[in-house]
Amino acid sequence: MNIELLNNKFKNVKPEEALEFFLNKYGQKIALSSSFGVEDQVLTDMMLKIDKRANIFTLDTGRLPYETYSVMDETNLKYGIKVSVYFPDREDVEALYRTQGINGFYESIENRQRCCFVRKIAPLKRALDGLDIWVTGLRSNQSVTRKDMQLFEMDETNNVIKFNPLLNWSETDVWDYIHKNKVPYNKLHDQGFPSIGCAPCTRAVKEGEDIRSGRWWWENPEHKECGLHIK
Ligand code: ADX
Ligand code: SF4
Repeated sequence: MNIELLNNKFKNVKPEEALEFFLNKYGQKIALSSSFGVEDQVLTDMMLKIDKRANIFTLDTGRLPYETYSVMDETNLKYGIKVSVYFPDREDVEALYRTQGINGFYESIENRQRCCFVRKIAPLKRALDGLDIWVTGLRSNQSVTRKDMQLFEMDETNNVIKFNPLLNWSETDVWDYIHKNKVPYNKLHDQGFPSIGCAPCTRAVKEGEDIRSGRWWWENPEHKECGLHIK
């Protein structure tokens, strides 16, 4: 599939319609990666309304906040599904602990990237294996590192087409959808957490602060990607 053609063809198509097209065409070969953040909850609702068997997976790093597990449970219950969970490799986590201790990610960017690699990137590779389309909840105005993203992109590393249906949605669009459709959401969003990752690497932000400023807050904005979304 030609990425440029896809971007042209779908640039004015609503996310629901585009998702329906791809779910019909690819079935189990298209999957949403969900962190149970608010954007992913919108996409979960859209995809399950189109097809109850839609493929949704999460990467459980072992360091997620309590509230994320709660919304995971709530989501499974509400839709009568069981989101697939990918865990990190046990030996890698044990080696990570031996080399950098339990919270070594605060000490250097290298340590932090190693932890993200073991806990997220390697499991993501397993999750994406054999898929044609990877759906994400990325939005272009979430951060400086995301402003040039496209609706469709080729992820050469994982050899999969990445589809970001909510790329051009605003935060207001996302919340309007959540409320209108009564979609369960992570309660940390009500406590000043617009973007939620692992518990030790996420904190609340103040009104008006950058959406992702609570993620890896001790690093520069240009470094603040865990590697899931770096081309
Ligand atoms: S991250 O790269 O900084 O962690 P962010 O939290 O903004 O990403 O989420 C962006 C998108 O990455 C989500 O919409 C989701 O598709 C994917 N993602 C992030 N974290 C996870 C996770 N733990 N499990 C599955 N998908 C995830
Ligand atoms: Fe490790 Fe923090 Fe990355 Fe989670 S976000 S994988 S705890 S460095």
